[in-house]
Amino acid sequence: MKNFKKAAFVLAVLLLLAGCKKVPSKAATKAGVNFGAAITIGDALNQEQIKLITENFNTVVAENNMKWENIHPKKTFYNFGDMDTIADMAVSNGMKVRGHTFIWYQQNAPYVSSIKSDDELKAHLEEHITKVMEHYKGKIYEYDVANEIFEEDGSFRKSFWYNRFGEEIYEFAFEVAHKADPDAILILNDYNNENAGDAKSDAQYKFVKKMVEKGVPINGIGLQLHLQENLPFSKDAIRKNVQRYGELGLKVSFTEVDVRVKTPATPEAVKHQQEIFCDLLDIALTEPNVDTFVFWGVSDAHTWVPGTFPGYGDPLPIDKDNKPKEAMKAMVKMF
Ligand code: G3I
Repeated sequence: MKNFKKAAFVLAVLLLLAGCKKVPSKAATKAGVNFGAAITIGDALNQEQIKLITENFNTVVAENNMKWENIHPKKTFYNFGDMDTIADMAVSNGMKVRGHTFIWYQQNAPYVSSIKSDDELKAHLEEHITKVMEHYKGKIYEYDVANEIFEEDGSFRKSFWYNRFGEEIYEFAFEVAHKADPDAILILNDYNNENAGDAKSDAQYKFVKKMVEKGVPINGIGLQLHLQENLPFSKDAIRKNVQRYGELGLKVSFTEVDVRVKTPATPEAVKHQQEIFCDLLDIALTEPNVDTFVFWGVSDAHTWVPGTFPGYGDPLPIDKDNKPKEAMKAMVKMF
């Protein structure tokens, strides 16, 4: 009888421990965080990837498939197929979807720059935003309407769009987006814009404050947060930045989080990477105007980083073998 009782006790403890193992995506949802990853069409067609994504995240964004060159490759042809596959996979798994992106200086379809008339180009931009947002109405909760519109010194990026129309084209894009889907959250997204006090970040704040004062329908900004582990990181400066947008009544979304490390990564670098992830998540959990925290990739197995920053990589909280790092476990504990 004694052995039976002992076996029953051990079984109970094991069941209890198994029950305590939080499913990251469910823990994030319970904590009210849209915790996500940028995915590819390949991810959305692969059952193993879908399992990895749905276990760890409750939100996805298309890394490339909603960009103009892919979704509207010809002036009179929209290719919704791949983005539909991504959105339908997400929605059928109870996940949220972010939309990325409309007006940007990169990955426009080649024909766009051949539109010579300003009136025609502006009307075509309106058509593009309207058609895409109407197509995904009710499926996509938040859009990066405009992306990377500032230079590092805080001046406006001399992009194709800015050179043609000036800064008013960005306000126009938000007006069009709001008309297309009044329920969607509309975001101005950028990188190196996280620290209050930096030229680029303060320029974005000034511009967005003016948009709010003019009644332009903007709901928030995106901090891409493409960080490097061995560069300065100021949790305080990021929090101050988040808070000043909160004072404007605006959301701040963490839209493309990754923390690249020099490869091969040392244990110290991986530990520091974890601390940065957890500091960012602490801001998201303690600042009321942050509810979106999306990584730019599912795992270290597929990331843009090495192609752009040779000698750096492993920027995500799931490793090359699709195993959660200590960082992921630490973040799940924070939920
Ligand atoms: O699909 C083509 C393929 O057919 C072709 O064989 C191959 C080689 O030329 O290129 C493939 O397209 C590549 C595409 O990624 C899909 O893999 C493009 O060349 C490549 O330029 C593109 O890079 C993307 C990059 O944005 C473009 O600037 C990255 O995947 C994507 O992660 C990156 O994401 C950006 C965000 O949108 C904005 N914030 C910064 C972030 C990182 O750069």
